Amino acid sequence: MYLKDIYVSHFRNYDDVKVSFQPSMNIIYGNNAQGKTNLLEAIYVLGMTKSHRSSIDNTLIQKNESTAYIQGNVVVHENLDTLEMGISKTKKLLKINHNEVKKVSDYISHMNIIIFYPEDLDLIKGGPAFRRRFINIELSQLYATYLDVLNDYNKLLKMRNDYLKQYIKGEYIDESYGSILDQYFVTKAELIYQMRRKFVSKLNQYVSDIFYDISGLNGFVLNYHTNIDLESNISYKEQLLDKLKKHRDVERRLGVTLVGPHKDDLEFLLDGNSLKLYGSQGQQRMAVLALKLAEIHLFEDYKKDTPILLLDDVFSELDFDKRNNLLKHIHQHTQTIITTTELELLDSKLIENASLIHIQEGKLINKDEV
Ligand SMILES: Nc1ncnc2c1ncn2[C@@H]1O[C@H](COP(=O)(O)OP(=O)(O)O)[C@@H](O)[C@H]1O
Ligand SMILES: [Mg+2]
Repeated sequence: MYLKDIYVSHFRNYDDVKVSFQPSMNIIYGNNAQGKTNLLEAIYVLGMTKSHRSSIDNTLIQKNESTAYIQGNVVVHENLDTLEMGISKTKKLLKINHNEVKKVSDYISHMNIIIFYPEDLDLIKGGPAFRRRFINIELSQLYATYLDVLNDYNKLLKMRNDYLKQYIKGEYIDESYGSILDQYFVTKAELIYQMRRKFVSKLNQYVSDIFYDISGLNGFVLNYHTNIDLESNISYKEQLLDKLKKHRDVERRLGVTLVGPHKDDLEFLLDGNSLKLYGSQGQQRMAVLALKLAEIHLFEDYKKDTPILLLDDVFSELDFDKRNNLLKHIHQHTQTIITTTELELLDSKLIENASLIHIQEGKLINKDEV
């Protein structure tokens, strides 16, 4: 799939602008703080309904304005789809082909995006919540049902925590309600676990080779970390129920659920050692790149279509060889949109074939005007 064009109004530092893209390589360039990342962010928000870098929607709206609007035409299997998104301070409106879409899960599986940006390193350096968020976002794009199951799970988790808090408050407790909650809870937990496990094992079919290609190092794998014994003959659900039982007293004292997919993690291992604990910054960066590149293959396998690749400022962080190794993995038929402050950092062949988009102070500079 590819993004044909995007129209952005009152978004970040853009009054309004329309930008067209070609199906292969596109390079957004300009000095610092001109709006390159903002434009990439608009594309991301159009596809995902949320920003990759801010959880606060209000910051997306241009200062002193009350609403922002984004519209994009996406070509999916040769059909042209118009995606629209209105953002106000209190709500968002989503439309596909001029029809309102109420369910976010139906909307975000429509336009598939993989983004690389400098803060991606948090995927390795940061806490487990970053990695769960990553898995959740990616799986929501792959399967609309994943987000539905995740929302159900989070609702049950909240109900369960509320129930546990009744013990702290010394309120009347209906224990049969508690055990019904647990049954629902472990059922949803297992579904989430199964989809995540499949996702990680699919990624593992690609990541080691890609990591080797860009770094020259063998032995990179991902490991889905959960405190359920995966070798056991006992089902996931039964094991989780058993854990809940074991933790019952502590959970009732703390008023929170201590086991389940909301506590799981993704480990990045190089030769069996955690990259988070032992990897160099360079190795960590390459691990994230390998992960994202592996995802391209995954999206192609699942969706029978290429995702749209957004690369924000990633080239400045890599040396020449790594840059070229990275580019080798990005095929001509994958639409790629890159931002950079220095065109000179990029290979001249790449520039020759790319569509160049010059951004200055939230405006598109026409080539003829330069
Ligand atoms: N909601 C907003 N309204 C107006 N300007 C904004 C808003 N959010 C960010 N900006 C401005 O956008 C600029 C940064 O744009 P950005 O796309 O991050 O730059 P870069 O070209 O370096 O990637 C800054 O000048 C910042 O003040
Ligand atoms: Mg930027």
